Parts: sequence; C-alpha cells; structure tokens
Amino acid sequence: MKVTFIIDGSPTTLDADDGDSVMMTSVQNGLDGIIGECGGSLSCATCHVYVDATWRDRVGEAGDDENELLEGAVSPRGPGSRLSCQIEVCAELDGLTVEVPPEQ
Ligand code: FES
Repeated sequence: MKVTFIIDGSPTTLDADDGDSVMMTSVQNGLDGIIGECGGSLSCATCHVYVDATWRDRVGEAGDDENELLEGAVSPRGPGSRLSCQIEVCAELDGLTVEVPPEQ
C-alpha cells in the first residue's frame, strides 16, 4: 500500500504495511515533519496531518480524545485535521494523501 505525504508542497510516496499507522510509516522512513513523540498513544499531537479532501470520507472523523488533543496542536486545525497515529493503513486507504503541517 502507498501513502503520500506532502511536505512543503512536495509529495513523497512511501510503501506502507497493512496495520501500521500513518505516523509510524512516516517516522520509520525518516521523513521530516511528523514527530510522533508519544509513540502513538494519543497524548502528544505531534503527528498532526491534514487529510486530503478526496480521502476524508474514507479516513473518517477524529474521536473525542483525538479532537481534544487537536485543539492543542501547534499548527492551526483545518477541515482535514487528524492525528496520523490514529489512522491505520489498510487496503481501503491505499493511495492516501496527507499534508504535513509546517510545525508540530
Ligand atoms: S503520536 Fe502522539 S498523539 Fe499521535
């Protein structure tokens, strides 16, 4: 499966394993921009991304705890804001595109 990360306007497409989070996919490949400080335990908001508009329905909405954390994210919240540790790569999300905010 593929996930594309837009960083400073430039796309980078990575191979992603089924069941890995979008955050892990980025961190394991050494991409800049997603920190994932808490390791995916939903307590840091340093994995904020903007899900591309065409993918938002399939990715779904943030849950209550995630929403609370997103309120404290460093970069402003947008319509596609999600915490990427909470997005699990699966066949349905093959080709997912997310934009990485300027700051975490
Ligand atoms: S990695 Fe900390 S909330 Fe996602």
